[in-house]
Amino acid sequence: MNKPIGVFDSGVGGMTVLYELTKLLPNENFLYFADSQNAPYGPRSKKEIVDFSSKIIDFLLSKDCKLIVIACNTATAAAVNMMRQKYSVPIVGLEPAVKPACLKTQTGHIGVLATKGTFRGNHFKNTSEKYKDYVKIHLQVAKGLVELAENGIFDGQEAEKLVAKYVNPLINENIDQLVLGCTHYPLFKNLIQKIAGENINLIDSGEAVARRTKDVLMLNKVFNNSQSKQSIKIYSSKNTQALFYVASKLFNVGENKLDVEIIELS
Ligand code: DGL
Repeated sequence: MNKPIGVFDSGVGGMTVLYELTKLLPNENFLYFADSQNAPYGPRSKKEIVDFSSKIIDFLLSKDCKLIVIACNTATAAAVNMMRQKYSVPIVGLEPAVKPACLKTQTGHIGVLATKGTFRGNHFKNTSEKYKDYVKIHLQVAKGLVELAENGIFDGQEAEKLVAKYVNPLINENIDQLVLGCTHYPLFKNLIQKIAGENINLIDSGEAVARRTKDVLMLNKVFNNSQSKQSIKIYSSKNTQALFYVASKLFNVGENKLDVEIIELS
């Protein structure tokens, strides 16, 4: 089935998931919506995030999407259950990769960087609950990183200072696995690894979500079998440099080659 897959996030971060999706599903077409106008979602109320998510999904469905991927831990935590009740199209959500980190740890300590909204969600609480007798899970809200990413800042003094502020206390807890529980954080991967050191393994959810999406496409019999060339169209509620920078870097194309439209959802 040729119809596109709709992917969205509060901003540019979900493109790290879009990248994994496009790699695993080379025959699928994608529409991506970055809600940079309303980022960050992290400190917002559940109601606000549900409203934003509904508007975006309405928009993506008006473009005939056959499946929606919520490429945002925060929006998944706040809205996925309600969105699944509201829409009949399959919806794939995202949650911090706590399970693989708990299964991999040798020290018995893992760190999770995420937003306040994600830690508040039931998905996170339920998964953490399962492992709490065996693994100590250290939480850290990484306030400010999403704002940096939305401003196109991924390295330099300011970013380094902020990452060190969040990662150093986790190193002191003897973690050997660090979960990047927000889709914006893989954009800081090099910096985080530099500060965490080589003995700490960084885990994000991108590849796992791409595999889950493939599975859901097949289960719903909407997987695209044709050998047609993949198309990627990007929409954003705000014209930012970060959007063009991140997209051109991830997809390795010149900024003028990107199919981008700025659109405000009312
Ligand atoms: N990229 C997001 C996530 O995965 C949203 C972060 C935010 O907007 O605060 O949680």
